[in-house]
Amino acid sequence: MLAALDIPIEDTSVISTELLSVLRRLTHEGFTSGQELAREFGWSRTTIHSLIRQAVELDVPVQAIRGRGYRLGRRVSWLEWDRLSDALGTLGYRVQLLPCCDSTNSRLLQQAAEGADHKSVLVTEWQHAGRGRRGRDWQGTLGGSLLFSVLWRFERPAGQLSGLSLVTGVALALALDGLGVGDARLKWPNDILLPAGKLGGILIELQGDMLEPASAVIGIGLNVDLSEALRSGVSQPVATLADGLGHVPDRNEVLVALLQRLDAALTQFDCEGFAPFKGEWEARHAHRDQPVAILGLAGRICQGMARGVDHDGALLIETDQGIRRILSGEVSLRAGMA
Ligand code: BTN
Repeated sequence: MLAALDIPIEDTSVISTELLSVLRRLTHEGFTSGQELAREFGWSRTTIHSLIRQAVELDVPVQAIRGRGYRLGRRVSWLEWDRLSDALGTLGYRVQLLPCCDSTNSRLLQQAAEGADHKSVLVTEWQHAGRGRRGRDWQGTLGGSLLFSVLWRFERPAGQLSGLSLVTGVALALALDGLGVGDARLKWPNDILLPAGKLGGILIELQGDMLEPASAVIGIGLNVDLSEALRSGVSQPVATLADGLGHVPDRNEVLVALLQRLDAALTQFDCEGFAPFKGEWEARHAHRDQPVAILGLAGRICQGMARGVDHDGALLIETDQGIRRILSGEVSLRAGMA
């Protein structure tokens, strides 16, 4: 049988279910021949070859040896909907797993507007238009990133959610502690750092007006095991969970641990606000008592010594004119200053 897939695959921005099926079938331990794959899936060897070529272009570590077939150059844990759903369903999460989408945040925002349930979670293996803060792109490695968004419908109005990204950071850092990654620090407002560089980022997008109960789409991107190509293409130092742990963890386990912590933290935040999280955030503050500059969208806002955070999550900067409350902006270290 020839499936409809027997056409050249040109568009590497689209990760198909077929590509993932073939990749899931490959192992690190032994080779699988193209013929065997073609027989199992009912596709031609040309199709199998095109899919493998697409995977290699996407930096998936597939090794091909003539006469033996294909294998993965290192172990990859693919996301598994039934495991995620079993573990997270008991907490009331409703999990969707997509092979590919533009951006889990964009997709979930759209679903939220159409009435999606509180605690809907959208996870994907690949985003072709992943978004970071301040209009930047967010890129991942196929099989080596966690890319997901959670819809949380709060009792609080948007005006009382200013500490949300900090609370999310605290929840992720606590979950990472539990997984054995010590030393996770937080950069205001919402980067997760390891000593080697940025491990992950958080993009929060709100729906609802300032006085009505608000909904938030909380998007999280975490580096689990990035390809060298991606690392070298990123302008800032990056860290991965594999670096932090000394081995590549199972991404399903990591995702479950993160969402468990997030559930407890967001529930508490909705009732009690940011106050119970302030101490933990400050204990992990990557720039505490260091000279920093804050850049706003329109240029430099101020410079001074980074201190703690205020009761609502605003960053406190000690300047020559006194303490300033920073509500938005990009923090960078001022090298060479004491
Ligand atoms: C940042 O540090 O700039 C925030 C990065 C947030 C990236 C995640 S990946 C999953 C979700 N979907 C997106 O398009 N962005 C967030």
